[in-house]
Amino acid sequence: MGKVRTLHSCSECSQQVARWTGRCPGCGAWGTIEQRAAGGTASSGPVALQTLARDGDEERRVPTGFPGLDRVLGGGLVPASVALLAGEPGIGKSTLLLHLVAHLSAAGLSCLLASGEESRRQVALRAERLGIPGQAVTFVPGRQLGEVLEAARSLRPFLLAVDSIQALRDPESTSTPGGPSQVRACTDALVGMAKSEGIAVALTGHVTKEGDLAGPRTLEHAVDVVLTFDGDARSGLRVLSGGKNRFGQEGETAWFEMGSDGLREIDPSALLVSEGREAGSATALPQSGRRALAVEVQALVAPTDGPARRQATGLDARRFQLVAAVLDRCGRVPLARAELFGASSGGLRIEDPACDLAVAAALASAWAGVPPPEGSAFVGEIGLTGQVRGAPGMTQRVRAARAAGRTTVFAAADPVPDGLVRLVPVRHVRDALAWAAAGAARVAPEWPAEAHRAAERSKRAL
Ligand code: TYD
Ligand code: MG
Repeated sequence: MGKVRTLHSCSECSQQVARWTGRCPGCGAWGTIEQRAAGGTASSGPVALQTLARDGDEERRVPTGFPGLDRVLGGGLVPASVALLAGEPGIGKSTLLLHLVAHLSAAGLSCLLASGEESRRQVALRAERLGIPGQAVTFVPGRQLGEVLEAARSLRPFLLAVDSIQALRDPESTSTPGGPSQVRACTDALVGMAKSEGIAVALTGHVTKEGDLAGPRTLEHAVDVVLTFDGDARSGLRVLSGGKNRFGQEGETAWFEMGSDGLREIDPSALLVSEGREAGSATALPQSGRRALAVEVQALVAPTDGPARRQATGLDARRFQLVAAVLDRCGRVPLARAELFGASSGGLRIEDPACDLAVAAALASAWAGVPPPEGSAFVGEIGLTGQVRGAPGMTQRVRAARAAGRTTVFAAADPVPDGLVRLVPVRHVRDALAWAAAGAARVAPEWPAEAHRAAERSKRAL
């Protein structure tokens, strides 16, 4: 049989070229050159939808070695897909990427690691710490776009890992290195290559403290999947959440712990709440992506004659102060002349305002020396007048409460049907803290009669 002759042409401007090239000489677009059978139709031309779906690589999912990461990806890594792993510097992006490369290589799928952040020696040292044999990883410096594309094209790995997209330069582009247009041009080139060559691409991208993908939020729509790696750089706890995902549900999360030998997946439900009841500790149910999670919030109240310091770890410092002020004014918990400390378990960053009520419960509990009711959790944003606002996602929150063994949820919401978790409706912060008032009656006889009546009501309700 004679050799089938193939032609290449640009999908953008139809420019014909003799052999495959990364950039179209006609219109300058990256990754648009496609193979066509001589005289025939384009390989990506019209095809019956059903055939396409059956033939598509999208059906195939490759396990990454972390069941949580597979879940966040929508069932595993999709061949020829492009995933962006975004996170603050120091959170563990390079480490996760190296784990992924090591797992796939061990499973017999070739990987190419292009690092513009670290030298080959630095990557080798990290691999050694993680117990990954250096020979298992193919490395290419990741500063020059052309070099990376060429290496990927000649090696044709299953996965090209690029650490990071901001370190990559397109010499053809005249804009600032690491700037939005550079990053965008490099991403486009890599996306084009992933699609035309059938190579999966994983990119890391730095985000700033403000949560912006340094420069280019715009590249989010160029990639198939956006994963966000988050947590507190000092504590070992990390959460990976799925944002945009062409192959799965948005909002899935996976939890990891950073140890001396790298990242280990963990189940957070047992980790973030304690079993026993303690004064100064209350359970919050923050949303994390589409799910919710039970997280312990702790507070310490120390009377002082000096300046009343307020310090929050993991909690939003401004909201912490606001909740304390509202408690002082509307909840009649005299905190103005006390030093206040607040923390979330594991230093996990909690930004969900619906955690206000749990913060209030922890503060009131610490002040009164009374633990919150057995098996309780708290949901609601607190306004300046002390009213408690309802929170979205109650179904998920109640589910998280149940998973953590909580049986009562104080919230300004209509009851969610759930046979195991009872909802205690609250309108004002005082309604949710009646147990503290009851317990603190000895400590604080100045609590108003109204609070004591609320305590009685709440005792009957519970
Ligand atoms: P890194 O993956 O370099 O973060 P990023 O690429 O997001 O900037 O890892 C960041 C931190 O993790 C670094 O400060 C050291 C720490 N670390 C460990 O604690 N254990 C380990 O095994 C590794 C590899 C890193
Ligand atoms: Mg890094």
